[in-house]
Amino acid sequence: TAQPLIVAIDGPAGAGKSTVAKLVAGSLGVPYLDTGALYRALALFLDARGIPPVECDALYSALQEVSLEITEKEILLEGKNVGAEIRTPRIDTVVSAYASLPMVRNRLLDLQREQGKRKGLVADGRDMATVVFPDARVKIFLTASDEERARRRFLELRERKENARYEDVLEQIRERDRADSSRSTAPLRKADDAVELSTDGLTIGEVTGSVLALVREILNKENHNDAVQ
Ligand code: CDP
Ligand code: CDP
Repeated sequence: TAQPLIVAIDGPAGAGKSTVAKLVAGSLGVPYLDTGALYRALALFLDARGIPPVECDALYSALQEVSLEITEKEILLEGKNVGAEIRTPRIDTVVSAYASLPMVRNRLLDLQREQGKRKGLVADGRDMATVVFPDARVKIFLTASDEERARRRFLELRERKENARYEDVLEQIRERDRADSSRSTAPLRKADDAVELSTDGLTIGEVTGSVLALVREILNKENHNDAVQ
């Protein structure tokens, strides 16, 4: 098959998408695309300018003006690496409201699709398999219980020496999932043809191994079909 390999990974916050997607991409030798970082970068830009998450002229102009670039290693907002600034409690709180707006989602659609055209990619987000890459050859929906996902986030925050209460982290994760799943444009949901992988109690290595095994199985099947035809 001549089509570049697209692996689409969706799921709720803290399911392990970005960690696993990065490792899978490295192992397959294709680029990794963190689409959550794109939404976070736009949220950072809009929030800093005091533009509220409603579809209005100010939002439209800001989205026309903003410069957002994807390089091999990082995402550049107005030419600057904002890797740290986009992962703050403030952005965690506001990002879903901006991400619910069709204007915001449209701004990112071609940018995301463009990335996969040359070398393929492993992309993670909420609507990879349903909207952005509906023809992806591999579609995975990663999940874990709310409590497990909150525990992972909590440990991550503690590692970074940030003060957080487990109960608050759990409530914030639930609130973001609620917002992402209930919006009308590109809500978080499993694509009908995606494989669901529950990761409760599994290590990062085990999940990565399962995803890679699935990718190989699908590629082998395609090769076999090509040979038969
Ligand atoms: O890593 P984490 O699960 O905390 O979030 P993320 O993947 O960085 O995504 C942050 C937010 O961006 C999500 O809660 C969604 O509101 C939005 N998002 C989206 O709407 N569609 C995507 N493809 C990716 C992220
Ligand atoms: O991208 P997403 O929000 O889905 O999750 P992540 O940022 O990749 O993972 C959240 C945290 O859970 C990270 O600290 C991972 O190291 C950890 N994790 C884990 O402990 N076990 C897994 N099977 C997957 C992720």
